[in-house]
Amino acid sequence: MPTALFRNARIYTPVDRGAPCSGEAQGNIAVYTPGAILVEDGIIKTAGPEQEVTAELPESLANNATDCGGRCMIPGFVDPHTHNCFAALRESEFELRLGGTPYLEILRQGGGILSSVQAVAEADADLLRTNTERQIKRALTFGTTTMEIKSGYGLDTKNELKMLEAIGGAAENTPVDIVATFLGAHAIPMDYRDRSDEFITLVIEEMLPAVVRQGIATQCDIFCEKGVFSISQGRRLLQAARNMGMRVKLHADEVHDLGGAGLAAEIGAVSADHLLAASESNMEAMAEAGVVATLLPATAYSLRKPYANARAMIGKELAVALATDCNPGSSYTESMPFVIGLAVLNMELSPAEALTGATLNSAYAIGTADRTGSLEAGKQADFVLLDGESPAILAYHAGVSPVEAVYKRGRRVAPQKTARE
Ligand code: NIG
Ligand code: FE
Repeated sequence: MPTALFRNARIYTPVDRGAPCSGEAQGNIAVYTPGAILVEDGIIKTAGPEQEVTAELPESLANNATDCGGRCMIPGFVDPHTHNCFAALRESEFELRLGGTPYLEILRQGGGILSSVQAVAEADADLLRTNTERQIKRALTFGTTTMEIKSGYGLDTKNELKMLEAIGGAAENTPVDIVATFLGAHAIPMDYRDRSDEFITLVIEEMLPAVVRQGIATQCDIFCEKGVFSISQGRRLLQAARNMGMRVKLHADEVHDLGGAGLAAEIGAVSADHLLAASESNMEAMAEAGVVATLLPATAYSLRKPYANARAMIGKELAVALATDCNPGSSYTESMPFVIGLAVLNMELSPAEALTGATLNSAYAIGTADRTGSLEAGKQADFVLLDGESPAILAYHAGVSPVEAVYKRGRRVAPQKTARE
């Protein structure tokens, strides 16, 4: 794509200072009204006040500018935690949960994650790829331009690889940047019920080397929870993964405070995710170690649990990122605007803090901050136009997506242009 100018926008963007934004910096975003961005071959050349950006531009370029009509422009959302590769929904399980059966009890009885595992085992690679593409495209219409997707419904080498291949295939067919994460230790398979140490050995000795050999995932994750994997099993797996060159992270302290946040700090994970039950001392350890806290408010909402203590985290200089956790069990939503709404109204983040969490900090949590997460020179021109004046509209216009248009590398990708446009 040649050079293009987008003008007359109200630009709101976090500022990348080379590290995730923590403490006060989380809410310190740049605002340019009116603002403009100049894009060359999909990359931002300049972004800032319109007068500065357009000062020395040739007239032809200025005349061909896209007028954003005074709409709010923000970076495309980076969703850093999803399980968007699955074979079937679990609507009846949702009804069970509404009836009072706890999420972990459903898993203990062989349902929950394990029912998704069975569905994936029965699905062919094509179905998985098509489903994943559908999920990505739906998220794109809600403004997500970069997304992490985990495996974890395979739990054996063949099916974990099948999932990661489906994720890679889906990524090729959509404009969204995809980061794949290996989550072979997502649940204990039925056959290993009383031998979870042996299962971790299998993950380390068979699955992980196969994933690394094929180069189809850059990150490794594990679900540490009561009745699932312990902290020492998490330590074993994540150390092995790191030795094989992967970035590591974990599902930590989602239901019980097992000390997952402490493990993340100890091993230098890139992020610890969930943290509903994390202790204050482990939050401090995470902040000290520079681990990003990826919070998933739609999961707390769907599981009817108390939200993670985001205010305490920000107070402790812990960088907070936001994600959907989109999956067929604990959080079935592709919508980052919904997640931001929950974060603002139920976790007391300011709209600016939530925006940073859903863009720049989330890019750091999955290793894409060199190219995504803020509207600054050198980054991809991934942006969203909102039907509103500021990012507050994301929480204010509840239950409705204020996303009017989504651009990836300077090109409009949603909604797709009609023949008449
Ligand atoms: O992040 N807690 C573990 N994993 C997912 C849920 C996956 C599922 O229920 O299918 C989560 O909440
Ligand atoms: Fe998850």
